Amino acid sequence: MEIGNKIKVFAPATVANVACGFDILGFAIDKPGDELIMEITAEKGVVIVDIEGDGGVLPRDPFKNSATVAIMDYLNFINADFGCKVWIKKMMPSGSGLGSSAASAVAGVFAINMLCEEKLTRAEMLPFLLNAEKAACDAAIADNVAASLFGGFILVRSYEPLDVLQIPVPEELYCAVINPHIIVLTKDAREILPKEIPLGKSLRQSANVGGIIVGLLRGDYDLIGRSLVDYIAEPYRSSLIPGFYEMKNAAIAAGALGGSISGSGPSVFALCKGKETALKAGDAMKAVMDKMGLGADVYVSKVNSVGPKVLPLG
Ligand code: HSE
Repeated sequence: MEIGNKIKVFAPATVANVACGFDILGFAIDKPGDELIMEITAEKGVVIVDIEGDGGVLPRDPFKNSATVAIMDYLNFINADFGCKVWIKKMMPSGSGLGSSAASAVAGVFAINMLCEEKLTRAEMLPFLLNAEKAACDAAIADNVAASLFGGFILVRSYEPLDVLQIPVPEELYCAVINPHIIVLTKDAREILPKEIPLGKSLRQSANVGGIIVGLLRGDYDLIGRSLVDYIAEPYRSSLIPGFYEMKNAAIAAGALGGSISGSGPSVFALCKGKETALKAGDAMKAVMDKMGLGADVYVSKVNSVGPKVLPLG
């Protein structure tokens, strides 16, 4: 690590919950994602030089921005006698349900770790990312940050202690995600959830978590589809997303295995066998938004197995 060293990185967006896995399942997608440039400085502390693409809404105070909260934790942990400055390029809005704050935080710790010759493992950096999520959304949830950091499809088996498992995904699994141009804050989407779950629902929910994992391991697409049922969040949060059931049903009619709300919404995802079906599912969801006169972006990709990566400085 030398003063003046510079790096540019990308960290992917994520789909959290995946219907049945409230706060415990998530996967990374190829697009969108956030970019971050970092330069090491002789002065201690972290400075945000610029944030592009957020319409001015994200905090420039390094103690409040998810990326810099995570970077500061990292620097404190390694007792750094240096600091850094960062430029952040947002490629998805906050409050989209695509893990926007998580992607920025992952880009931040990934960048500082690369500049520090990968001093820490990804698992060691995860607690910094939970603090960042707490700062950004008032909830230290690991599903988005773990999926973006490790890449692939993850299960948060335990929060205390943190135990994150990666689940292999079958080759032809694709995802279509639609991001309607409205904002749903995670904090608000959590507040509308009931504080207790009846026993019967809890049993059905955990059975589906088992089902999706067996489906992923066996490459059993029908089982994956049958398991995409959410008794905990979707019945409540769907009211925050105009046209939610129309989009979900349109995706299924177009051949998707199933779908639900991405993270805390308003984005909606559909899992599909094959790219062609995913493209059709994305188009079908977009047609619902078009009919309602609502703007929306659609992204189709495989599960992103790489996670964050270094980009050319350019
Ligand atoms: N699992 C979270 C939620 C998403 O649904 O509220 C943000 O990590």
